[in-house]
Amino acid sequence: MVSSKTKADDVFGLLYETGKAINSSLDTDTIIRNILVIVTKHFKFKDFTFLAVDGNKLVLKGALNHPRWGDKNYFIRIGEGITGAVAATGRPLLIRDVRKDKRYIGIRPKMLSELCVPVKTDGKTIGIFNLESTKLDAFDDKDLKLLSALANQTAVAIKNANLHKSYADTVKRLTNLNESAKAINSSLQLDNVLNTLLKVSAKELHYDSIAILLIKNGRLYARAGVGFTHEEIVSYTADIGEGICGRVAETGEPLVINDISKCGFYINQSPRTKSEMAVPIKYGKEVIGVYNVESNSFNSFDQEDMLFVSALAEQAAIAIRNAELYAKIEGFSEVLKAKVEEATSELKSANEELQRLNKAKSDFVSIVSHELRTPMTSIIGYIDLVKDAQCGPVNEKQKEFLQIAHGESMRLYRLLKDLLDIQKIEAKKMVYLFKPFGIEPFLRKYSREVGRECKAKRLSFSLLLPEKIPVIKADEDKIRQVMANLVSNALKFTKKGGIKIEAAVLPKSVQISVSDTGIGISQENQKLLFEKFSQVNMEASREAGGTGLGLAITKAIVEAHGGRIWVKSELGKGSTFAFTVAIVKATNN
Ligand SMILES: Nc1ncnc2c1ncn2[C@@H]1O[C@H](COP(=O)(O)OP(=O)(O)O)[C@@H](O)[C@H]1O
Ligand SMILES: [Mg+2]
Repeated sequence: MVSSKTKADDVFGLLYETGKAINSSLDTDTIIRNILVIVTKHFKFKDFTFLAVDGNKLVLKGALNHPRWGDKNYFIRIGEGITGAVAATGRPLLIRDVRKDKRYIGIRPKMLSELCVPVKTDGKTIGIFNLESTKLDAFDDKDLKLLSALANQTAVAIKNANLHKSYADTVKRLTNLNESAKAINSSLQLDNVLNTLLKVSAKELHYDSIAILLIKNGRLYARAGVGFTHEEIVSYTADIGEGICGRVAETGEPLVINDISKCGFYINQSPRTKSEMAVPIKYGKEVIGVYNVESNSFNSFDQEDMLFVSALAEQAAIAIRNAELYAKIEGFSEVLKAKVEEATSELKSANEELQRLNKAKSDFVSIVSHELRTPMTSIIGYIDLVKDAQCGPVNEKQKEFLQIAHGESMRLYRLLKDLLDIQKIEAKKMVYLFKPFGIEPFLRKYSREVGRECKAKRLSFSLLLPEKIPVIKADEDKIRQVMANLVSNALKFTKKGGIKIEAAVLPKSVQISVSDTGIGISQENQKLLFEKFSQVNMEASREAGGTGLGLAITKAIVEAHGGRIWVKSELGKGSTFAFTVAIVKATNN
């Protein structure tokens, strides 16, 4: 019997109301709750249930007055009873008297009539709506049509809700993947990379244990995991091709195994494991590891889980490779560091040895020069005595030879002095006696000597002085040494023309220069001049004699006076050496 409310013209109202109610939600539970409200309003019944297909069973998803509501273990096998028959055939059943139907299995004795319709999406039965009444013949064809219409609308709503849920799940997984990509790529430490991988996937999967295995020297080793003890992880290893993971490593193809007991090549690790999923971690085409998830229930992993972990593994592969490379580089730089330290310490001891040798050499030179100088002085003195006929007459020939001996002895003496000077300069033991010094009278007097020497060599000589030269502060002997060196060089390297000594007063210093019209010095050689033992024009220098120490000593002396020395020269045209000495502030003295 149809309730008074469900008259023909109410049909559209009901459908409209149903549509509005159930389509307002994208959540399956809410949809079912709304259906229950509508059913109560429009049908007269004792018991209403919504059973959903789950594998080969029907399970309770919604009910009004059902005695087993809330019982998680309650189910009906597909094919059993009226509801089971509807689920099996996908066709509705209207039973006017249940007592006359052999298929009927009563949970409550008082039920007399029943109406059961399938809920189908895409032609597939996903559940049933079932109404029972304590009255005979409580439902008619109209009720059947109405409940079927309701079921159809519900099916659409549930399908939408499912679609929405899987869409939302996908979005969630994508977001998760994106997050993991960021986290994974932000680290170069392998452990960090693997831990992030575990954390991200653990959020998404129904697992009991996860292990990340990496290939090393042709074998699989566990590198990280959850649901294992540290010892289990450290001790796990497998051959390529051995067991599920070994097979995935070998083929490079993922495996999803719903029932481990039916898998021929499973090597029993944990007795509790029921299903397993293993995904290769590939860098390009090369398998570098396996991502393995195990579950203590059957059917824990589906295609989507596999795709998700594959995407994750793809990201991880790059990061794992980077981390491995980084570790290698780090190891390499450790080795390099050790090598550099070793080399440095070798260099240090070599340097110490060199310093020791250098000091030994300096000591030797200074001792020898010193020891030679004393006898040299007496030799020169005695030659002088003999030459000047102080010890009896000397003939012209003897005098000439003694003159030569005297000159050579003097040369040796100066050489020894240069050696001692450079030694002192290097040891920073040169002693200076700075005093106010009238450079003008000094230059006038000194120039007379130079003039004589020039005349002897048929060279011209000139002295150019400004009107008044301020007093400078200097060590007179050292300035004489500087002048002697510059002038002796000029004389040595000049065959024709002449020599000029010039002084100029600058704002803070006096500049003195010695110019010649000699062989000149090339641009390149000018840079080397002031280094010790540098004789830049070997031929000319050898011929002229000398040690190559003069300019090095000269430069050191000038700099000790706070001045500067430089050269301007052109090959074949002559050279000008100039130096400065600072002016003393109070110029009275
Ligand atoms: N006035 C100059 N003209 C050309 N060459 C010069 C002149 N002065 C110095 N030199 C070059 O510089 C070198 C270094 O000079 P110096 O240090 O005084 O050593 P030494 O006079 O013992 O050779 C000389 O051997 C020579 O080649
Ligand atoms: Mg010289």
